[in-house]
Amino acid sequence: MKTKINIIKKLEKDKIFIDEAANVIKDGGLVVFPTETVYGLGANALDSEAVKKIFIAKGRHQDNPLIIHIADKDDLYKYGKNVSKIAKDLADKFWPGPMTLIVEKNNLIPDVTSANLSTIGIRMPSDEVAREFIKKSNVAIAAPSANISGRPSPTDVKRCIEDLDGRVDYILGCNESEVGVESTIVDVSVYPPCVLRPGGITLEMLKEVCQDIYMDKGIIGKDANIKPKAPGMKYTHYSPKARVRVVDGNLDKCVEKINEMVHNYIEKGLRVGVMATDETRNEYKEGLVLSLGTRNDVSTIAKSLFSTLREFDDKHVDIIISEAFMEEGLGVAIMNRLKKACGFDIVKII
Ligand code: TXA
Ligand code: MG
Repeated sequence: MKTKINIIKKLEKDKIFIDEAANVIKDGGLVVFPTETVYGLGANALDSEAVKKIFIAKGRHQDNPLIIHIADKDDLYKYGKNVSKIAKDLADKFWPGPMTLIVEKNNLIPDVTSANLSTIGIRMPSDEVAREFIKKSNVAIAAPSANISGRPSPTDVKRCIEDLDGRVDYILGCNESEVGVESTIVDVSVYPPCVLRPGGITLEMLKEVCQDIYMDKGIIGKDANIKPKAPGMKYTHYSPKARVRVVDGNLDKCVEKINEMVHNYIEKGLRVGVMATDETRNEYKEGLVLSLGTRNDVSTIAKSLFSTLREFDDKHVDIIISEAFMEEGLGVAIMNRLKKACGFDIVKII
């Protein structure tokens, strides 16, 4: 398939690309589009045939439900049913933004979109291009992240092209994604509501709306054996081609340990990457060192996490060793992605 690729530089001038992309959706095609979390791979959420193509293009398991994207808050009621007061309050506070609500679905949503579940994930993105594109398409857009399944999610258009050129009808590019990790998923079809995936909206922020909201045990802690509740969270994820290891504990001791590990791997003839931070980058003596950002503002780390993993692949390293982060606030989402990227291979320094 020939993929049409257009990048929006100035929204006013380039609106034509959004119209073109929306027409592809209306014709039952696939469109990659930017959002503030990561890029999405979209199709008309109400068109089973179009949605099936998403699963094929990504190589995604059929049992992994999709999130639908809306441009109008009231569409929560159009596609969801029995929407609770807490769901409404969360939507009022955090939409548009990086939060997905799981609600009971009504029969407008085909089974292929929700992977036969009776619930559906709904999100209203804050990205202006995303919202304009959804509005112009005049329908909800079902969209997983725009990567081949298992790979780190794309936060810029270059990575979407890398994974999906030739597999989709249209790639609509724009800026880098602002947040860099996927949306926080909150299941509000149950009480108390449960966070199924940590993201840009932290548990602390959610608790301002409802004190009882809690984090699914399957996505926190170090136990790989507790199964997460969101179907997609059980799959291998965010894996660069290189093996990933994470070193956790006192930062000075971690740096020391990582230096020792890097040295040993290099002695064995392996190419090693170190995922460092601005505070530590100059303390590593060997290997390819890339900084994720500053520990003083972990949003910089979330933003560059996936692109840095992919950059190490560009440089053909065999193994990536990463520092760990505090599991609080946005750090919960960062560590969740890192744990999945390393398959829970965490070296704990005491
Ligand atoms: O930020 C995001 O959410 C991005 C952008 C494109 O909006 N989308 C995204 O979609 O991350 P995806 O498909 O890569 O991840 C969706 C996750 C999967 O783990 C899936 O299992 C879970 O959401 N999910 C979707 N519907 C669900 C449902 N009804 N119940 C439980 N989990 C659900
Ligand atoms: Mg994904």
